[in-house]
Amino acid sequence: MDTEMELEAYSELTPIQKFFFGRSVFITGATGLVGKVLVEKLLRCCPGIGKLYLLVRPKKGKTAEERIDALFKIELFSVLKKVFPKFQTKVRLVDGDLQKDRLGISDEDFEEIRANVSIAFHSAASVQFKDPLRLAVQSNMIATKMLVDLCHQLPHIAAAVHVSTSYIRREPDGYVLERVPVCKVPPKKILDAMEWMDENCINALTDYLLEGKLTTYLVTKALAEKIVEEERGDLPTAIVRPCNISPTYKDPFPGWVDSIQGLSGLLLAGAKGVLRTLPTVKGLKINVVPVDLVANTLIASAWHVATERPPYVYVVNCVLDYERLPVADEDILGVALKKRDEYPLVSIYRYPDFKIYYSYVAYKIHSIIDEWIPAIFLDFFLYIFTGKVILTKVYRKVAFLYGIFYKLGRVPWICKRENYLTLEKRLTGKDTEIFFLNLDDLNWMEYLDNCLKQGRKFIAHEDPSNIPYAKKKAKVWWLVTTTLKWCLILYFFYYLFCQFFLNNSHVKERMYTISP
Ligand SMILES: NC(=O)c1ccc[n+]([C@@H]2O[C@H](COP(=O)([O-])OP(=O)(O)OC[C@H]3O[C@@H](n4cnc5c(N)ncnc54)[C@H](OP(=O)(O)O)[C@@H]3O)[C@@H](O)[C@H]2O)c1
Repeated sequence: MDTEMELEAYSELTPIQKFFFGRSVFITGATGLVGKVLVEKLLRCCPGIGKLYLLVRPKKGKTAEERIDALFKIELFSVLKKVFPKFQTKVRLVDGDLQKDRLGISDEDFEEIRANVSIAFHSAASVQFKDPLRLAVQSNMIATKMLVDLCHQLPHIAAAVHVSTSYIRREPDGYVLERVPVCKVPPKKILDAMEWMDENCINALTDYLLEGKLTTYLVTKALAEKIVEEERGDLPTAIVRPCNISPTYKDPFPGWVDSIQGLSGLLLAGAKGVLRTLPTVKGLKINVVPVDLVANTLIASAWHVATERPPYVYVVNCVLDYERLPVADEDILGVALKKRDEYPLVSIYRYPDFKIYYSYVAYKIHSIIDEWIPAIFLDFFLYIFTGKVILTKVYRKVAFLYGIFYKLGRVPWICKRENYLTLEKRLTGKDTEIFFLNLDDLNWMEYLDNCLKQGRKFIAHEDPSNIPYAKKKAKVWWLVTTTLKWCLILYFFYYLFCQFFLNNSHVKERMYTISP
């Protein structure tokens, strides 16, 4: 779309589209799950938007330019390419890194950002649960402070939106408030500590901060919220807190995801036959939110704080109505088991089969027998032939993550949604369709079915055309696995039988007497 056409169409635009018209946007985390969907949505649904300045770092031998080129080739952007083939003219790459001073932005880029940008989205973060405190502080706290500082230097700034997580604080009654949490140590003290503490002191500080929080990720995300609150001054600011982010509901098409975090990773690991058992709590609801809803919430929040200018940080729990959430054991695992044979994968480790347990001990026993023993056995041979171990590493990681999810998820996290609902109510006319925030019509069974079907394509990279072959292969796997299992069981009983008779002298005697 060229500028003239964009201007002609202005009168037709919705309030949110008018707000973004002609405005340039700075975005961190554009290569991440949330960032990709946000960039696509802004370019596709906000005609006349100015430039998108995307902060991207070089990684794994690829330059930031190469990474952006690769990003726009993914299927998520296929719809955008059709409606706006020249969309890349709107994108301006900013080489940068959260780990560097002033986010690693060059003077030249900084001047351009200063002159043009009026909206900032900070989605980048280190989401590694196991990061050492120093690294997590740099990526999640210091970078957030640098971003707020940057916003203060932008003369046209209208809105800043920080992406956080709804898992940073649960009140004793189970509720998660839409309020910046009270931190046991002020963020400034943590930032100072990083300057002078040696590694031993930092380890002790980590233990102190981790109490009740489980990961450095959650600790530093909570402190980052506090930084945003303390440093924002009069900047119109929102904090958007998604819960577990899941594949797209419908925009730009249903079921898109390319990250193995959360629900998608769980379903994929189950389909591959790696994940064979899970601990859960009966009737436990799972807080999942489709990623397209997260992008809409970010966009609507920027518009809301810029136009309403609330005198406080506008915290939005980006979650669905608790009553309508799917139940872990019945809905999610139920669908996964039911659909196991409908969308099987070609590349599997074992025939997919898993059981859920309400007892942690039972889960652990099953995990040792069905996951760890075969993994150790196979890794032993893998190590002999290739010098590598794979499966035991995977299970160690899975065990660590489930340890955390199990502790976090054993209790309900009921997120307050007053601010979210205020946003939803503010949307009018076509904005309610384009930037939809209401998912009351979401059919979980259909949605989960789509997650499985599309996850096969987008995460496992398996073409839908090979499903018939995968089904045949799955049958062979089932036959081999079942035969092997029964052989082992029969052999076990045969062994017990022999042990009993051979160790029992009077039976032995009778046997010898009977023999010729
Ligand atoms: N995914 C979830 O379930 C979930 C749930 C609640 C909240 N959130 C929040 O949502 C936000 C986005 O998460 P996500 O799911 O999109 O995570 P993600 O897919 O892991 O993406 C993280 C993004 O941050 C960028 N990043 C990390 N370290 C960086 C650095 N040193 N310099 C520059 N960029 C860096 C990554 O860039 P590279 O590609 O270069 O690594 C990537 O673009 C985060 O703030 C997270 O805390 C996520």
